[in-house]
Amino acid sequence: MRKKVIAGNWKMNKTLEEGLALASEVVNIAKDEVPADVNLVMCIPYISLAAISKIAGDKVAIGAQNVYQKESGAFTGEISASMLKSVGVKYVIIGHSERREYFGETNQQLADKVNIALANGLTPLFCCGETLAQREKGIHIDFVNTQLTEGLFHLSPEDFKKVVIAYEPIWAIGTGVTASDEQAQEMHAKIREHLASKYSAAVADEISILYGGSMKPDNAKGLLACKDIDGGLIGGASLKSRDFIDIAKSY
Ligand code: PGA
Repeated sequence: MRKKVIAGNWKMNKTLEEGLALASEVVNIAKDEVPADVNLVMCIPYISLAAISKIAGDKVAIGAQNVYQKESGAFTGEISASMLKSVGVKYVIIGHSERREYFGETNQQLADKVNIALANGLTPLFCCGETLAQREKGIHIDFVNTQLTEGLFHLSPEDFKKVVIAYEPIWAIGTGVTASDEQAQEMHAKIREHLASKYSAAVADEISILYGGSMKPDNAKGLLACKDIDGGLIGGASLKSRDFIDIAKSY
């Protein structure tokens, strides 16, 4: 049985005070409304991790949005996996398209980030996804497969099973345009096929693959009902407690 994961990605939003207010709303509502088999995660700015993980309780896990690929040392401004772990972080987003695009993160660097996250007991939320131009050229499946191969396929099957994948078509992120249920399901099935070709059908079947890109309460039900979609990575709608919880309740 694959785990269901609904993860919020606050991106660069919310001061500590605003974040504490949003997180406590989510925690309070989630206790009563979110089914026990749905894993709720909030991926929040570094500055708020320590304080919010103290109020998150058992129902909501805390995630970071990035990690540096070295254990420690002279890397001014960076944050290590062991630092994240020390403040109660359980998940870390790796390879979000905004990191790839604006900060030049490469598949090789992301592979190193995956390794250091796993070595510290963190669950990588590994993102992949194509641009609109790549989709229009018909190379989207190959492009996403290469991201997965170069970022993850060095892992042993045991380590690979600890990873959660998020498919986020770049053209759907923050645009209000969501992939249709059919487009999303098709890509998720292709991703699972690619995982099976490297590992095995049994291993591929255990990996949770989340959809991300303008997921909202009114489109979540259709997406989450798709056979190969095991949850969502939610940006904009995770900034409103009601919307985030309503997505989680759509299962
Ligand atoms: P969005 O962002 O839900 O605002 O489209 C998703 C993401 O970037 O993870």
